[in-house]
Amino acid sequence: MKSLFGTLADGTEVHSWSLANGGTRMKVLSYGGIVQSLEIPDGLGQLANVSLGFDTIEDYVAKSPYFGALIGRFGNRIGEGRFTLDGEAYDVNSNDAVNSLHGGAKGFDKKVWDIEPFTKGSDVGLYLYCTSADGEMGYPGTLKVKVTYTLTKHGDWRIDYEATTDKTTVVNLTSHVYWNLAGEGSGTIENHELKIAASRYTPVDSGLIPTGEPAPVAGTPFDFRRTKVIGENLREAHQQLLYAKGIDHNWVLDKGISPKPEWIATLKDPSSGRTLRMATTEPGLQFYSGNFLDGTLVGPSGRAYRQGDALCLETQHFPDSPNRPSFPSTVLRPGQTYRSTTIHSFSR
Ligand code: BGC
Repeated sequence: MKSLFGTLADGTEVHSWSLANGGTRMKVLSYGGIVQSLEIPDGLGQLANVSLGFDTIEDYVAKSPYFGALIGRFGNRIGEGRFTLDGEAYDVNSNDAVNSLHGGAKGFDKKVWDIEPFTKGSDVGLYLYCTSADGEMGYPGTLKVKVTYTLTKHGDWRIDYEATTDKTTVVNLTSHVYWNLAGEGSGTIENHELKIAASRYTPVDSGLIPTGEPAPVAGTPFDFRRTKVIGENLREAHQQLLYAKGIDHNWVLDKGISPKPEWIATLKDPSSGRTLRMATTEPGLQFYSGNFLDGTLVGPSGRAYRQGDALCLETQHFPDSPNRPSFPSTVLRPGQTYRSTTIHSFSR
């Protein structure tokens, strides 16, 4: 169940935890809470690892574009790495030109998490813990984080996030699995079908920061209200697609924030039949079509990852929320508990 995966330059050991339930098998690293492999069956029971990753800790440390990782303190971008909270100005680490991306240069994807396995009834899972010190990457407050990965008897993967702080801060946690339901290394996801329960998205500027209020998806390449093949509109010369080299946008989910996880998206690979259904409590979904994969990274299959060889579906609050009073708030105050849940259900 637990084995040594590798050792960091400072001597810290990184472990790999294996879980299996209901036909799903997964390997999780203590480094970044990374889902290093996630195997699900097709209709014939044939397992495939449907998430991009690496075989060695060295590759994760040196060159991972967040493969399978937990993202914090703040998923996606904060414009110019700046915001004001209760009248106080904060400057957080900018690691994406002038903007801050996924919590800054040393985000939660690069932390070594404490992991504890559990079994609860027919569920198995892992508790992942980390603490982010007051001021880390520029964020205020000591943030204590607990993430629960559960594999249910149906083979569903559920993520529950919790966090508390001792000073008012902002939090936006997510998971950065790169999906390819035909199997990592098997080529493009442009033939996958996708449906997203969202009538609006947040248009961005050339730095991928939202420009203002959400806009309707109707009549744009961003309309996934009916099941659509991902490649269908991907090469349209639409300014938003040109800025992002494809899709890298936040969908404003019609259901909004919900106390219980509600269905928001379905992804299907027609060749294998493997299907992922997602439900979340979050108000937003970042759909990233693997635009920056450029053929220089090689996965466990021994095959290179090229542009569009995977997609990410990150449930979260909207990018740059700390600077957008009209977006759902990402503020967390002492005494409050941040909670967020996302469920991935697999079928064939
Ligand atoms: C972002 C992309 C970014 C990628 C990192 C996504 O969540 O939206 O812009 O390049 O993460 O691999």
